[in-house]
Amino acid sequence: MTLTASEAAARLAARAAAVIPGGVNSGQRRVPGLEELVVTATSGSTFTDADGRVYTDYHSAFGPPLLGHNDPDVDAAAAAAGRSVDLMGVGVTPVEIELAERLVDAVPSLEKVLLTCTGSEATFHALRLARTVTGRRYVIKFQGCYHGWHDAVAMNVISPAERVGAKDPLSGGILPEVLAATIVCRFNDAHDVERALDEHDGDVAAIIIEPIPHNIGAVLPKPGFLERLRELASKHGTVLVFDEVITGFRHGIGGYQSVAGVTPDLTTLGKAMANGWPVSALGGKAELMDLFSTTPGRPAFFAGTFNGHPATTAAALATIVKLQHEPVHEHVFALGDRARTGLQALYDRLGVPAVVSGFGSVFVSYFLEGPVESYDDLLRNDVDLFVGYRRELMKDGIFELPLNLKRSHFSYAHTDEDVDRLLEATEGAVTRYLGTRA
Ligand SMILES: Cc1ncc(COP(=O)(O)O)c(C=O)c1O
Repeated sequence: MTLTASEAAARLAARAAAVIPGGVNSGQRRVPGLEELVVTATSGSTFTDADGRVYTDYHSAFGPPLLGHNDPDVDAAAAAAGRSVDLMGVGVTPVEIELAERLVDAVPSLEKVLLTCTGSEATFHALRLARTVTGRRYVIKFQGCYHGWHDAVAMNVISPAERVGAKDPLSGGILPEVLAATIVCRFNDAHDVERALDEHDGDVAAIIIEPIPHNIGAVLPKPGFLERLRELASKHGTVLVFDEVITGFRHGIGGYQSVAGVTPDLTTLGKAMANGWPVSALGGKAELMDLFSTTPGRPAFFAGTFNGHPATTAAALATIVKLQHEPVHEHVFALGDRARTGLQALYDRLGVPAVVSGFGSVFVSYFLEGPVESYDDLLRNDVDLFVGYRRELMKDGIFELPLNLKRSHFSYAHTDEDVDRLLEATEGAVTRYLGTRA
């Protein structure tokens, strides 16, 4: 019996669900309405599903493929490195040294740097280091920011209205003592941070922040906010951590810190760093980084079997070299600017209340009356329209993740024609979706 493409796809999804909890390998990959999505190929700005449908991809795996999927230079570098030196687990390889040198040159806050596989590991080690060096208990994070899955930070991202202002853990199994040791502040509200630092005077080890909270789309820091955090952290002897896992490389080779002109003590990097290969990093002041146990006898334990894997490290190096030698940022920023301007104009023309936000290659359409300054403003977003028009867009072969507040990304592989199609299709999708509600 020959199966149709749809039947074959449904069968694959059923096989996945039988042996993988929920049928996917990360919490936000199972999307309502897309339970049978099986991706069989990626290339440049597109992906193909098991039904054989091709989509222009703006989800971009939450951000890594800044150069586009399957970049030939990056993939060739990973393959070549893998052929010449495999994982050794002792000493260091030349490619790790070269990558570290490039990172230290490129990112203002980096005097020394260590590699991890994931962004969660990088933020975990940043907070452990901050607690080691200060001997303090508390960390401050912000409502709407995500820093990975570990207990100290897995809370208060996209919270329901009734949980804003209270602890909103993402998971069971987090010790109440750990929840209590994290203070959640309001983004763009320096007074709130000042209050928290005063209230726990001398006991706040770290402030960790996404300089642009992209896990809720794109809420831009108000002028002076990041500068004020810098002052407050220095005044209170608190370690300032910029989590640039999304903004790093995507917004500039030096990260958003080089755009904002504010230098944190520690920086975490990931995602676009290796264009989709699993490499992340933690770096900062040498006096802090030298406290890791990579220097024998130093107190902050740091280890990882796969850290600095030659193949993935080579992928990161090739990505950075390409970002330095080709007009990647110029290209993706121009597409982003055109999309944001065009989208805002079309919502205005349609009379749909909307704030189009973003930075550089990132864009998002919030359906609300502005301004958008903090997470609480986003509680006004018209969630049904946000998700609904994105489902409609799929009918036109365009994929923006249909989940509330998720951002979209341009890559070097996207084109001006993609922007034209996006604008035209968005107008149709929003109009059709609103028509179903009329
Ligand atoms: C800002 C930020 N930090 C840290 C992480 C965690 O990175 P990973 O998923 O690689 O563990 C993420 C993941 O989305 C992130 O967006």
